[in-house]
Amino acid sequence: MHGFSYRNGSLYCENVELAPLAAEYGTPLYVYSAGTILDHYGRLDAALDGVEHEVAYAVKANSNLSVLRLLAEKGAGFDIVSGGELFRVIKAGGDPRHCTFAGVGKTCEEIQYALEQEIYSFNVESEEELRYLNEVAGEMGVVAPAAVRVNPNVDAKTHKYISTGKSENKFGVDFEKIEGLYERAAAELPNVRMRGLQMHIGSQLTSVAPFVEAVEKVAPLVESLKERHGIEFWSIGGGIGIVYEGSLESGGVAWWEAKSEDERPLTAEVYGKSIVPRLRETGLKIIVEPGRFIAGNAGVLISKCLYEKKGAAKTFKVVDAGMNDLIRPALYEGHHDIVPLIEPSTGETVEMDVVGPICESGDFFCQNRKLPDFQRGEMIALMSAGAYGFVMASNYNSRPLPAEVLVDGDRAALVRKRQTMDDLIAGEL
Ligand code: LLP
Repeated sequence: MHGFSYRNGSLYCENVELAPLAAEYGTPLYVYSAGTILDHYGRLDAALDGVEHEVAYAVKANSNLSVLRLLAEKGAGFDIVSGGELFRVIKAGGDPRHCTFAGVGKTCEEIQYALEQEIYSFNVESEEELRYLNEVAGEMGVVAPAAVRVNPNVDAKTHKYISTGKSENKFGVDFEKIEGLYERAAAELPNVRMRGLQMHIGSQLTSVAPFVEAVEKVAPLVESLKERHGIEFWSIGGGIGIVYEGSLESGGVAWWEAKSEDERPLTAEVYGKSIVPRLRETGLKIIVEPGRFIAGNAGVLISKCLYEKKGAAKTFKVVDAGMNDLIRPALYEGHHDIVPLIEPSTGETVEMDVVGPICESGDFFCQNRKLPDFQRGEMIALMSAGAYGFVMASNYNSRPLPAEVLVDGDRAALVRKRQTMDDLIAGEL
């Protein structure tokens, strides 16, 4: 389910019409649906019912304080990758004792901060990092809870930039080296306590098979670690993919119901059903770290058409959002559906490139796509931009960061102001 649909010819987010919202707050504008975020959280939580578990939202996907607060209120845990993300979680009312700290390059200051806040676990990515964690914890007179990230060498079959579980990726410790590392930790590192094992094979996985393969492969390893070292949790990472194409096809409500079994997106139900039995056998607490699954379809980026430009070979629509606001098409060849805020009265389309104002040829949202022929002044929504949208935005070309609005039922609240020109130079000396 997602909260975006046309009503009487106008695009709504839940019960709020988007065109007046965009007129009020200006464009480019990110709009999120609270109902969608909570629905996705609830679906995944329910799908894992058969096993002791925690849904630890991957903050990197969308770290707006109001989004974090929604999830904190539901009792979510958080998967963080920096001191900054931990700071945000705490500011939003999240509990650091339900935070896992991932990432290959934690700094001394970040480790100290996370130890002070008593996070649940450091998900460590190398032996050197584990030894350093032991050292920092020792200096502080505490014991650091830790898990090693195993690289299971499984092909996630996703874009190469978001695949993480193969031996050639920088992430995790080779499967074969894990047991030895836990032995050495037990013998030599008195200031770390091995609390679990972590893995994450990649992002935007649209089939369940790689998850099943990774779970089957790693389950005997976690069972052995539980027996020998008393670990208590297994984090199986995030990565559940979402559907980026055809998101408004059947009115936005449970639209995948209309699709045949094999065309359906990877649902929480299928994910749960396929792995829960094996997870349960381990007797461990299971952590999942979804980002995109929770926030992806819950957000859109609204942009206004500035100009039409008919080149010799192509029609370009120049819009006021750029790759600095939403970089996924440029970076991962990511697809985002583009729909006008006012529903076109005919099904007619024109082949076009929708491009931004940035001085880069990679600054496009689509190429050679057939879309309704929207004109200067009309507004469009780039769909499924709730995850890895705003968080990856930059000030490139000295463009202020867009505003963010959160919709909940009939209510829309500005949850981040658009940056001003002064914000752009604040901090420069
Ligand atoms: N856990 C770890 C250790 C991760 O590295 C990630 C994502 C997640 C969980 C959450 O993955 P998700 O459930 O969202 O797939 N910017 C890219 C995606 C990068 C993902 C990085 N790691 C994109 O826009 O496609």
